[in-house]
Amino acid sequence: MSDDLSFADYESRLDRSIKAKSPDFFSGDRLRHLIFSGQFTRPLLDKLCRLADKIRLLAKSKEGHRFLNTLLSHKRAMLYFTQPSTRTFMSFAAACQILGMTCNEVRDLSVSSEAKGESPFDSIRMFSSYFDLIIMRSHIPKFAECCGYMMNTLADSQRRSVPIINAGAGSDEHPTQALLDIYTIQRAFSFTDPKDSRQWTRYDELRQQFPGLRKGIAGKTIGFCGDIRRGRTVRSLAQLLALHEQVRLVFISPPHPALALPRDMKDKLIDAKVDIRECHSLEDQLDGKPVIEQFDALYMTRIQREHNSGTEEQELNELDYSHFKLTKSLVARMKPYAAILHPFPRDKEFGEIPPSIDEDERAFYFRQARNGMWARAALVAHIFDVDGEINDYYEQYNSEMQISPQ
Ligand code: CP
Repeated sequence: MSDDLSFADYESRLDRSIKAKSPDFFSGDRLRHLIFSGQFTRPLLDKLCRLADKIRLLAKSKEGHRFLNTLLSHKRAMLYFTQPSTRTFMSFAAACQILGMTCNEVRDLSVSSEAKGESPFDSIRMFSSYFDLIIMRSHIPKFAECCGYMMNTLADSQRRSVPIINAGAGSDEHPTQALLDIYTIQRAFSFTDPKDSRQWTRYDELRQQFPGLRKGIAGKTIGFCGDIRRGRTVRSLAQLLALHEQVRLVFISPPHPALALPRDMKDKLIDAKVDIRECHSLEDQLDGKPVIEQFDALYMTRIQREHNSGTEEQELNELDYSHFKLTKSLVARMKPYAAILHPFPRDKEFGEIPPSIDEDERAFYFRQARNGMWARAALVAHIFDVDGEINDYYEQYNSEMQISPQ
């Protein structure tokens, strides 16, 4: 935690459980700030995913695109990213632009007045003077949460206050990544295909081979492979999967405490009655069958070597990581509909997913990244309460065009 005095003001609020904190970040049943994945309930997740589908569809036509562009053309967003980012930064910028918002950015503190000693809290308060939304990825742990409290205090005293979105910070959470991951998994398990006809769909075809197959996330086996402990996206997504009935989560990592499923996360998932399993290789057997053949989705992650601490560096360097890399022959053994996901960036030297897999129809990771734009547009539309307008326009558009979401 920073020794900045302002942090002390929030210490007692930071120490509470997510359940106790969550109401601070809502306005009624609408998100005021998004700080944790734990703020997402199943109804809210489903609502945002449906909204993302509608935005996706409307944006395909010039007319729909024009409509979306008018919704927030009177609003401005600040993207304050003091940690590196490609996808989150770009997809938020694109999402805001889809809704007509103007975006500005601070990515390099050496060109901001923080380089002259300004506190990050003053920076955020200043941004709120000029912008209507602050999307932030900060190097300071729990800073987005503190900024949410600061904005609430300002609002309580009738001063200018704007929503804060946590765009993933350090080893904290990455709630919007979890949102886009859930959206991607939902779409993967809708089993629709542009080539489907009214008489014969991909789902019918798959059900011949897998009679128990159902649409949706419930009942699916989802693998997480690689750096489980330090992957903030794994932590956030596992929580949201736990909101779905009878999911089975399989964690595949080296048996080292720096990388394996941490106790607190395991306890939370057990409390949520999730069936969790642990393996130490993609080649392992689970319940007498190869685990690779059991996944409905497999979420690969990068080994985050930049977080190796001095004392464990040597131990971690000596581990055999070959069991945590996908190969074409492993993919060939996966179910024909299984979705391979990765939050990206992937590590080109380590090679957890070699590019030779990219053209396999099970490789969802580029679609996953694009889904980030739609899911984030849905989130911003929800925060600014324009989702009702999108729903109404969509209904009208749908009845005129006789279309349904793909
Ligand atoms: N997945 C993700 O957060 O990517 P970036 O770090 O590039 O934003």
